Amino acid sequence: MVETLTQSTRIEMDLRLEAAASSEMAENVAHDKGFRVPAIDWERTGRDVITMEWIDGIKLSDVKAVIAAGHDTKKIGVTVVQSFLQHAMRDGFFHADMHQGNLFIAPDGTIVAVDLGIVGRLSRNSKRFLAEILYGFIQRDYRRVAEVHFEAGYVPRTQDVASFAQALRAIGEPIYGQPAETISMGHLLSLLFEITQLFEMQTRPELVLLQKTMVVVEGVARSFDPKFNMWVAAEPVVSEYIMAELGPAAKLKEARDGLEAGLKLLRKAPELAVGLEVLSRELPELIENGIRLNDDTLYDLVQDGKASIILGHVERWVIAAALVTIAGALVLG
Ligand SMILES: Nc1ncnc2c1ncn2[C@@H]1O[C@H](COP(=O)(O)OP(=O)(O)OP(=O)(O)O)[C@@H](O)[C@H]1O
Ligand SMILES: [Mg+2]
Repeated sequence: MVETLTQSTRIEMDLRLEAAASSEMAENVAHDKGFRVPAIDWERTGRDVITMEWIDGIKLSDVKAVIAAGHDTKKIGVTVVQSFLQHAMRDGFFHADMHQGNLFIAPDGTIVAVDLGIVGRLSRNSKRFLAEILYGFIQRDYRRVAEVHFEAGYVPRTQDVASFAQALRAIGEPIYGQPAETISMGHLLSLLFEITQLFEMQTRPELVLLQKTMVVVEGVARSFDPKFNMWVAAEPVVSEYIMAELGPAAKLKEARDGLEAGLKLLRKAPELAVGLEVLSRELPELIENGIRLNDDTLYDLVQDGKASIILGHVERWVIAAALVTIAGALVLG
């Protein structure tokens, strides 16, 4: 955690990096409605100077002025929260300092964010993890939320899924008894991290950064709409992600990608022969021992200098998986 903060402070001091973060986010949100960031003037930007488009708007910290200007206050909360979740889940890149002072509302109602000195990133694995836990909690499917932790490799297999699901119920259920406007998703995530620690999950700095920002973003929404319902606002974004990334269409795409990889491999006959041999020799052992792969295990292995051994295994796994795909295609075809 301390190292992550040290690194983010270093990055924050070099304004070229802040400009780059702003430019990256501008590209990500180019087609989004209701949220944008100022354009960067690269010619006038350097290590100690950042120059960007001037935003003529009202700061969200000035709630009275925003109301006086006649903006739809309920919509502000929804846009801020949905944008944040969209950035985290779709782009894996989010503004990690989204307080009222860094947000403007333009005359046309668009929210404009400045100050991208601190940003967070989520890997593909973490994005999927986040979406699935939020979806699981929205659906009250504690078993699924528990399984996601194991699938992501965040909680060791030695832990018991059922007991973990039970612990998740203990934090989820009291929340459903509360009035919607007092429910905080950020708070729920902090309770979740307390529980996951009990089950030997390592703290993940990028998720803690996300959780802390979520608390701030919810605060912004509530300052404009005290009855703001976090679940209702989050649901469309989370569902859309789940359908796009994990629904039937995504599964089909995954299968097609697998098949394409398999066909590519077929063209490389020599490797295929090696692959077949490896498959027959090592698959039973691999299945028996199972290899759990995630950022942490890889990191530990690199530290131990064992990475090349495991990477060798991964290569063979890829070959094995491709062979299985080809076999399937041949049978089906
Ligand atoms: N593009 C812009 N257009 C108009 N005003 C801006 C713009 N960028 C920044 N500002 C104003 O300057 C203030 C400080 O900018 P910024 O938040 O990037 O700096 P900071 O040093 O991180 O400040 P803080 O610690 O207050 O967050 C903003 O809160 C905003 O009022
Ligand atoms: Mg600021």
